[in-house]
Amino acid sequence: MTRVAILISGTGTNMATILNKVNKGDLPCDVAFVASDNPNAGGLHYAESIGVKTVVLPYKAQSREDAEEFLHELCISEHIEWIVLAGFMKILSSKFVRRWENKIVNIHPALLPSFPGTNGIKDAWDYGVKITGVTIHLVDHGVDSGIILAQKAVPIENQDTLESLTVKIHETEHLLYWKTLKKLFEGSYSFCERRSIDGCN
Ligand code: GRF
Repeated sequence: MTRVAILISGTGTNMATILNKVNKGDLPCDVAFVASDNPNAGGLHYAESIGVKTVVLPYKAQSREDAEEFLHELCISEHIEWIVLAGFMKILSSKFVRRWENKIVNIHPALLPSFPGTNGIKDAWDYGVKITGVTIHLVDHGVDSGIILAQKAVPIENQDTLESLTVKIHETEHLLYWKTLKKLFEGSYSFCERRSIDGCN
């Protein structure tokens, strides 16, 4: 079964959805560990509580290069095939991304290439778009610029607030990420060309 590492920095609701789908048998993969740069990430406690190995990456005590080297060695020793970013707030260096090329997947709370960066939901809201959404993409050397695997639109209604939009985006994320990962692990995507051969909508 596909060996997976999940990286988080915060609450970890996407991680929790993925772990629950794995436990139910809906998403066939082995989550070898959940790792975080943030020792206080809430998601670490949840992962531990259901028996998943957790790791704090040494970003605080060491340099980014050393923390990434630690992560790289851990992924090698755990035979990781896919690194799943789920709210991981550190930018991975080009060196790390090159080592794991087309093996790192991320979720972004906007319809890329619009509104990349750390505030995708608020940036879309502030701009005044009428449709935003969620993107699942591979990680490349840029910021939120890798090959798009799946997208789902979320309309912004007149009665929405930033808070209600945030809830809708997270609900959409929780529906889309595990389904996209399932197809990814099944080998349904080809990365020879920029455009994937199959969508997930
Ligand atoms: C999500 O909105 C995800 O798109 C973004 O970070 C957030 C993480 O939320 N990359 P959570 O920690 O999974 O609740």
